[in-house]
Amino acid sequence: MLRRLHKEQPATFAFTPANLEWAQGQITKYPEGRQASAIIPLLWRAQEQEGWLTRPAIEHIADMLGMAYIRALEVATFYFMFQLQPVGSIANIQICGTTSCMICGAEDLVAVCRELINEKPHTLSADGKFSWEEVECLGACTNAPMAQIGKDYYEDLTPDSLRDLIARFSKGEVPVPGPQNGRYASEPLAGLTSLKDYEAGRKQYNASVQAAVDIGETVKRIDGTEVPILTPWLGKSGGKPAKAAKAEPKPAKAAPAEKAKVAAKETKAAPAASEASVGSKPEGLAAARDGKADDLKQIKGIGPKLEILCNSLGFYHFDQIANWTEAEVAWVDENLEGFKGRVTRDTWVEQAKILAAGGATEFSKRVDKGGVY
Ligand code: FES
Repeated sequence: MLRRLHKEQPATFAFTPANLEWAQGQITKYPEGRQASAIIPLLWRAQEQEGWLTRPAIEHIADMLGMAYIRALEVATFYFMFQLQPVGSIANIQICGTTSCMICGAEDLVAVCRELINEKPHTLSADGKFSWEEVECLGACTNAPMAQIGKDYYEDLTPDSLRDLIARFSKGEVPVPGPQNGRYASEPLAGLTSLKDYEAGRKQYNASVQAAVDIGETVKRIDGTEVPILTPWLGKSGGKPAKAAKAEPKPAKAAPAEKAKVAAKETKAAPAASEASVGSKPEGLAAARDGKADDLKQIKGIGPKLEILCNSLGFYHFDQIANWTEAEVAWVDENLEGFKGRVTRDTWVEQAKILAAGGATEFSKRVDKGGVY
């Protein structure tokens, strides 16, 4: 199947504060220099938050991990679990269409989806509440045919029971997951023939269903407040993790911080051995003037990592960027390790001119209001 980004995309993406904290915690699970390993959990979290994976979300996460956009896009487009188009506001119904389910009636379930949701998979219903798709074996073959709705499995389905489920979800109910034909779990349809002693003391639902009922997140979008941040090494508070800051790329050829404090006058940064020779290098500063750098993150396209990188190259102020010549832009574009071409692509110079003159851009206003993470 051809997997492409959806033609209509939102302008921006931001994690909720709690999801951002969670994401930063995930990044600390990986050793220095291996932060890109967090790509799948972060993409998944973005999808859980928004319902589907938008281009701004993919790029935002690539920025967080210091990855080229194409690398993050490769991951997002490779795995079918990532939804690259909008999904139903209530649920995307995933019908298992593999052997056991197909033999037991999956085609009839697909027919119900075509009738009630949309003729085509990956397409919203008229009211926007549902979408559907056929997926490969979900590992519940003994309860075929089945579907995953939200985070949980609905098993032993018939066309009628699926119709009923869709109607109840549509009304805002969350039906109890698990077998829909009265089975407890995956015992024989005619009832237990052995291990009957366990029947009397069992809970109301089997373990999976009980967990689903207890957690209650079947079709809930995740904003980060529901689950503990599973990074105990960061302390109970789960506050901004110390190691997340460590995860920032080491400024390639950074002026040492101590030096920076002492020498605040303008100086031409010495060319580093690894610097590319395209264009001409703009004059850099050994440190911010008066020890106070501008918040370069007010420039759309500059995140925390790029800001560190810019500072390491001697760029601390809007007016420095605003005055870059074409040749200097070419040099910076070529020497932003991991972020090549961002100056031109994100029009830094134009934005910096406005900010250096004391004005504000649409983006910087949002940053001021705390709407960008
Ligand atoms: S074949 Fe449907 S869950 Fe395995």
